[in-house]
Order: sequence, then C-alpha cells, then structure tokens
Amino acid sequence: MVKKVAFINGKGGCGKTTSIFHVAGVLAVDGEKVLVIDLDKQRNTTDTLLMNTDKPEKSVFDFMKGTADADEVTKKSLFQSRANATPKYYGIDCMAASIELENEETLRNIDYSDFQDKLNEFIQTQGYAWVLVDMPPSNKALNYICFSCIVDFVIVPFSSDIYSISGYGDIMETIDDARAVNPSLNILGVYLARYMKNCAVDRFIKEQLEEFDTFIPVQIPLCADVREAVMFGRPISFYKSKSESRKAYERLTKEMIKRIEM
Ligand SMILES: Nc1ncnc2c1ncn2[C@@H]1O[C@H](COP(=O)(O)OP(=O)(O)O)[C@@H](O)[C@H]1O
Ligand SMILES: [Mg+2]
Repeated sequence: MVKKVAFINGKGGCGKTTSIFHVAGVLAVDGEKVLVIDLDKQRNTTDTLLMNTDKPEKSVFDFMKGTADADEVTKKSLFQSRANATPKYYGIDCMAASIELENEETLRNIDYSDFQDKLNEFIQTQGYAWVLVDMPPSNKALNYICFSCIVDFVIVPFSSDIYSISGYGDIMETIDDARAVNPSLNILGVYLARYMKNCAVDRFIKEQLEEFDTFIPVQIPLCADVREAVMFGRPISFYKSKSESRKAYERLTKEMIKRIEM
C-alpha cells in the first residue's frame, strides 16, 4: 500500500515544510521512493526541493485543471552529498506549487474524478512508496481536494508558543473538517515540530498535549542544523549522522509508519 500523508495545521510557521523536507530525507535514505506534492501557494517546498533542478513551467494547479499531465509538473529533487558535490537524485520527486493555488473559486469548479484517476496511475507507474502533501494554512477548497482525493492520513506539526494551546482547538476543527470530507481518513496525530526543552513554556505545552490521545511522543528540537540543512538543500539524514534532530526525524518517521500500519 502506498502511504499518503498530508501535513496540515491551520496556522502557518509551525514546521510543515521543514518536517516534510526532513521526513522525505529519512525515507530516501531507507531507499523509499517519495512523491512530495506542494499545495501551498507560497512554494517553499517546491523552491527547497527543486533548488538544484529546473522548475516545471506548469504546476499541480494545471494538473488538477486537466491542462497538464502529472509528469509535466513533477521534477526530481537533486541534493548535494557535501558542499560543491554534483547534485544527485535520491528518489524524492516534487510536484510543484504555484501562486494560482490561491484561486479557490477555480479550484471549487474542477471535476476531480479525472485528477484522482490520473494521480493514482502516476503514483503506480512511478512506483512511489510514499506521498507527502504540504498543505497551506487555510484553503477550504484545497483541504477538500486533499482529504477526498489524495491522502489517507493526516499529521499535524505543532509549534509551541504561548498561543498554541488555543490553536489546538483550531487543529481539532481542521481534523473534524477532514473527517467530514472523508470519514475513513486516519489521523496520525499531533507532534511538537519546533521544541525547546530548556524553555518552560514548551515543557508546559508538552505536558498539556500529553493529555490528548492524538499526541505523538516525539519532539523535533528547535535548532540551527534543521534550518541550515534546508538552506543547503540537503535533508539532515543525508549527512549529520550524530545530530539529535536527525534522530528525532527518524523517530517521527518510525512513529508514522507504526501508526499507519496499526
Ligand atoms: N525544528 C526546527 N528547528 C529550527 N527551525 C525550525 C524547525 N522547524 C521549523 N523551523 C523554522 O521555522 C520556520 C517555519 O517553519 P516552516 O517549516 O516553514 O513552517 P510551515 O511550513 O508550517 O509554514 C522556518 O523558518 C523554519 O526554518
Ligand atoms: Mg510551509
């Protein structure tokens, strides 16, 4: 079974894009072929994954509308194993986003059964083991498409700041919205994606979240190497063998697999 997971949170800046980048890296090191679909008009995932690749002229928006095929809007991600090395392919592909994805009106009027068939056929023929979807903070039309046509699972990165406990209610709403569209959708859970263990606020929020059965007991440390890896265009699992952050993304990926297979 292909594992299809959307990373979503109604709030921006909570670590969706960063998580997808590094989880895709962990999977690629394990030899898995991964398709990342960028549905966020900000294109952060597209720009990061395709930093060493010519970007496609068309985007997933054109694919949804039926004016482009999946392979026209998807490119191989190339990463440098070390500085100055020739970028190489590790099995991660990226379906590119564009600013047009903000056009909810157009999105609402598309017939998605054709898109869904074509996407599934593409996933089969390319032999992807995983599909990871980067979702924008709030776009009801894209939520609908993602939850009804693309993924089977949802995971919620959570950024602990003083306002985030009230944000937790929004997350539950997002999850309810998802289930309303697709009752068979599975929620993998919520995890802290930018955690400072020496900060009392973060520890307090973690304790609060531990009360919920959706809590995934993996914290991604908030640290420099996570950000630097994105800037270098190289997932942390490709080069930082001893890094705590790398281990955290590996644990998160394991936890995702465990929950998917449950
Ligand atoms: N674990 C982490 N450690 C350090 N910085 C992080 C971490 N996770 C995310 N960030 C930073 O936080 C900001 C928001 O993260 P991002 O993944 O872009 O969020 P989103 O995609 O949810 O908007 C970015 O500047 C990113 O580099
Ligand atoms: Mg993002």
